[in-house]
Amino acid sequence: MTADQPEPDTHVLHRSIAHRYPVAVSGEGILIRDETGKAYIDASGGAAVSCLGHSHPDVLAAMRAQLDRLEYAHTSFFTTRAAEDLADDLVAHAPDGLDHVFYVSGGSEAIEAALKLARQYFVERGEPHRRHVIARRQSYHGVTLGALAVGGREWQRRQFAPLLIETHHVSPVYEYRGRGPHETVEAYGERLVRELEAKIAELGGQNVIAFVAETVVGATLGAVPPVPGYFAAVRAICDRHGILLILDEVMCGMGRTGTLHACEQEGVCPDLMAIAKGLGGGYMPIGALVLRKEIFRALADGSGAFQHSHTYTGHPLACAAALAVQRVIRRDDLLANVRQQGAHLARRLRERFGNHPFVGDIRGRGLLQGLELVADRGSKEPFDPARKLHARVKHEAMMRGLMVYPMGGTVEGVRGDHILLAPPFIISSREIDMVVDRLGDAVDAAVNY
Ligand SMILES: Cc1ncc(COP(=O)(O)O)c(C=O)c1O
Repeated sequence: MTADQPEPDTHVLHRSIAHRYPVAVSGEGILIRDETGKAYIDASGGAAVSCLGHSHPDVLAAMRAQLDRLEYAHTSFFTTRAAEDLADDLVAHAPDGLDHVFYVSGGSEAIEAALKLARQYFVERGEPHRRHVIARRQSYHGVTLGALAVGGREWQRRQFAPLLIETHHVSPVYEYRGRGPHETVEAYGERLVRELEAKIAELGGQNVIAFVAETVVGATLGAVPPVPGYFAAVRAICDRHGILLILDEVMCGMGRTGTLHACEQEGVCPDLMAIAKGLGGGYMPIGALVLRKEIFRALADGSGAFQHSHTYTGHPLACAAALAVQRVIRRDDLLANVRQQGAHLARRLRERFGNHPFVGDIRGRGLLQGLELVADRGSKEPFDPARKLHARVKHEAMMRGLMVYPMGGTVEGVRGDHILLAPPFIISSREIDMVVDRLGDAVDAAVNY
């Protein structure tokens, strides 16, 4: 901002200081309305958060009931019914072997907790020499220092690099760009697994704490699922070396891909699983770390406490909201709708963009779908990043009353653009058709801008 520019009419340090954001005043179902009365279809659930849409009456009722009883009790003095009931519910539906829950207020905090719990676990077990964390490039695990360190978004890490703990990164599963022209999917997956093995060998398996990965990569690559067999092989390698597998299901978990946990579709169970976003559906900030019995036992039989807690850990209102969200999802069989409407969305995206000259790839799982934009489909050449095409798509979509979640830097952190779609689980086929129509117009307007 130059000296002759007027001061902004806000005291909020917004995400983008120069941008003027519409003021959201109400929401209902898949819609958010701004103060001018304009309605936006929330086809991204914000950032894959609003799984039940907005103002769901059953969730609001559960929150009001909790507020009428108790708004807050610090966890160093009390537990609450809300925190206990939610933990019971999460464990009852978690992959076998995960049996305790540590509460936080969001995704970054869940990853921080995972890293520290993994380290403390090995200290308690008498393996303090374990200190390395391996993660993947082109991943996003959050913005706090630990989460940023394991994350692989280069542009976001760069200026903070001197503050970050040492981490090691291997290639993500990114079939569209990573698989060789004559390579089978199986061979591609095996190559990635060998790369991880080589990294472990370089560091010494006995020195590695954990491997961290998003089961389905969300915001950084735009809804990229793993190739078959990849996570099963990763699980086996981790087991061989006693390394913990931390799956980040902050975005792809809690039903988003059609099963409650994305790892169910891979047939693997992590040692630590980070969840957030769809856990509370945006009704309250809440995240959680779900942990394997052995990790809990190591602490219980050792020092007796996880050396890590926040003031708002296990906030009763957040737990009550999250429990209500999870109960509605089950009662209304919304995961079936995620699978059905996810298939419909994928089909409609293929119909509209399958032959689009500037759409190189359409991918995803359930109601987490992505489009990768390219300047040339044959060579997969991305657009010039100076065009900020992803930002233009977002702008054109918002003009048309549509929220989608585009991002740049898809290819390697600098070049590439993609659009992420993560609509609420309550969406209908007709509403998806409207989303795809509006998105088609927005993409056409953006590439021709
Ligand atoms: C996979 C993943 N992990 C972690 C985070 C960080 O979550 P939060 O923004 O709630 O801190 C995100 C947020 O987008 C995410 O997508």
